[in-house]
Amino acid sequence: MRIDILTIFPQMFEGPFSHSIIKRAQEKGLAEIFLHYIRDYADNKHRKVDDYAYGHGAGMVMMIQPIADCIEKLKAERNYDEVIFMTPDGVLFEQKIANRLSTLENIILLCGHYKGIDERIREHFITMELSIGDYVLSGGELAAAVITDSIIRLIPGVLGDETSALTDSFQDGLLSPPVYTRPSEYRGWKVPDILLSGNEKEINKWNVEKAIERTKHRRKGMLEEGI
Ligand code: ADE
Repeated sequence: MRIDILTIFPQMFEGPFSHSIIKRAQEKGLAEIFLHYIRDYADNKHRKVDDYAYGHGAGMVMMIQPIADCIEKLKAERNYDEVIFMTPDGVLFEQKIANRLSTLENIILLCGHYKGIDERIREHFITMELSIGDYVLSGGELAAAVITDSIIRLIPGVLGDETSALTDSFQDGLLSPPVYTRPSEYRGWKVPDILLSGNEKEINKWNVEKAIERTKHRRKGMLEEGI
């Protein structure tokens, strides 16, 4: 899978993309991430990427030309399944969407800033708008990093069996049950006996019960809707 990210702060991705699972996915050739510095596409003398909003008071708006040129250049090189804009007024991102996006070949993630982007970009280039939650970030970069991480870990071969995405919270419509590791007792706090019993059937049953219990308490809606 190939992910092209359009941003005015490419450095913001250096940390999240150069460690752990995303790093390994890139090294294995299972995911390719390309960062595009929107300022490089500005056709004006000062490489300006934002301007005042028409008919509004305060706040700058990202200009159409640099973003349009960047998207068009990419689209001339390959087909994109989705051109996604990160925005707090987009569709709320969830595991179901991550699952679908992880099956695609090529996607573009556009990170906005300031008061937003010129609406004509949304009208003419964007196929999907995603929010990672009902709060406002300073820009779309952190949202794009979150979405990239959640998608890449789902690509077959990225995770080994021991970290399989199938056992993640949300993946089967339930939150994950509690987990424990050694020692079996610490300061008198004990790991539940059943997990030490070696009885696989009973352990599986316990895990399912605990997953349902946790989901009921923390995400009642998930049980009612199924996700
Ligand atoms: N840009 C700013 N806030 C955002 C959010 N909550 N989700 C996605 N993109 C954003």
